[in-house]
Amino acid sequence: MIVEIQILINWFGGSEKSRTMAKEMTNGDHSSSIKPPPMPSPLRFSKFFQSSMRILVTGGAGFIGSHLVDKLMENEKNEPLLVEVDQIYHLACPASPIFYKYNPVKTIKTNVIGTLNMLGLAKRVGARILLTSTSEVYGDPLIHPQTESYWGNANPIGVRSCYDEGKRVAETLMFDYHRQYGIEIRIARIFNTYGPRMNIDDGRVVSNFICKHNEPLTVQAPGTQTRSFCYVSDMVDGLIRLMEGENTGSINIGNPGEFTMLELAETVKELINPDVEITMVENTPDDPRQRKPDITKAKELLGWEPKIKLRNGLPLMEDDFRLRLGVPRRK
Ligand SMILES: NC(=O)c1ccc[n+]([C@@H]2O[C@H](COP(=O)([O-])OP(=O)(O)OC[C@H]3O[C@@H](n4cnc5c(N)ncnc54)[C@H](O)[C@@H]3O)[C@@H](O)[C@H]2O)c1
Repeated sequence: MIVEIQILINWFGGSEKSRTMAKEMTNGDHSSSIKPPPMPSPLRFSKFFQSSMRILVTGGAGFIGSHLVDKLMENEKNEPLLVEVDQIYHLACPASPIFYKYNPVKTIKTNVIGTLNMLGLAKRVGARILLTSTSEVYGDPLIHPQTESYWGNANPIGVRSCYDEGKRVAETLMFDYHRQYGIEIRIARIFNTYGPRMNIDDGRVVSNFICKHNEPLTVQAPGTQTRSFCYVSDMVDGLIRLMEGENTGSINIGNPGEFTMLELAETVKELINPDVEITMVENTPDDPRQRKPDITKAKELLGWEPKIKLRNGLPLMEDDFRLRLGVPRRK
C-alpha cells in the first residue's frame, strides 16, 4: 500500500476538463469565484466502474488510515488500488513529531507536493477529496477552545513548522483547487487521536505512557499543558461523515475533553499501573500550551460528537499494546 501510494504521490497530475456545479462553501462566502467542477474520466461511466464505489486512501497503512480502510471495506468489495476513484481520503503524512522532525524537508514535501498530486488526481478523475489537516494549524493558540474561524498562532520557522505550516499550505491548496477548478473538497482538522495500532515507539504522549509498563511516565515540563484525546473509532466516524456530507470544512474533529499532561499521566497510572512513578523532563520547542477543539460545527453540520471517554478508550489501547509487546496483563 505504501509503495503504491508513493507512486501516486510522484506521478499524478491533472487535466483541464470541467463539469457542472460546485458545492456551496461553509467557511465564508467564496461562492462567486468558484469554477464548476471538472468532468470525471470517461472510464468512470463504464459498466465495470459503475458497479461499486471506488475510494483511494493515502496513508492507509498508518494508524488512523488502517482503521478507516477497515471501516470502508466492511460493506464493499473494493480492490486494494483502483486509480479511477470517486473519493480520496488523503491521510499520507507522518503524524508523530519524532518522525516529522526527523526529515523535515520530506515532511513539507509530503504536505505540499503530495497534496498537489492528490488534488491533480481529484481534478483528473472528478473525485471528492478529504484532507486530514490538524489542530497544529492553530500553532500555540491564543484563543481557547479553538474554533475553525481562528487563524492560529504558528511559528513559520520553527522545528515543527514543516508539519504545521505544511498542513496550512495543504489547506490553502485544497481551497484554491476548489475555487479555481471546482474540486469537491473536505478538510478535517484532527485533534490528538489515540487507540489500537498506534505506532508503539513514535513518541506521541498516549503511546509513550501506555508502552512504559514498568518504567517511569515522563511528563514534559511544566505538565500543565493540555491536550484533548479522541478515540480512533470516533475519529473514523467523523471523517466518513465529513466525506459523505455537504460541507467543505475546515471542521474540527476531536474530543473536547481536556486533560493536562499530568492528569493524563495520573489517569494512565490509575488505570494501568498504580505502582509506576511519574517524573518531569524538559520540554521540546514550540510545544503548544493548550489544545481543545470547539466542535460546535461538527455537531451541527455533521451530527457528530465523540462517544468514547478517555477512561474507556485507554484500556482498549492497552490491550492492543500488551498483545503486540507480549506483555501479560497485571493480576
Ligand atoms: N494521529 C493523530 O493524532 C493526528 C492528529 C492530527 C492530524 N493527523 C493527521 O492524520 C493523518 C493520519 O495520521 P496517523 O496518525 O494515521 O499517522 P501515521 O504516521 O500513523 O500514518 C501516516 C501514513 O502516511 C504515510 N506517508 C507518510 N509520508 C508519505 C509519503 N510521502 N507518501 C506516501 N505515504 C506517506 C505513512 O507511510 C503512513 O502509512 C496524517 O495526515 C496526520 O497529519 C493525525
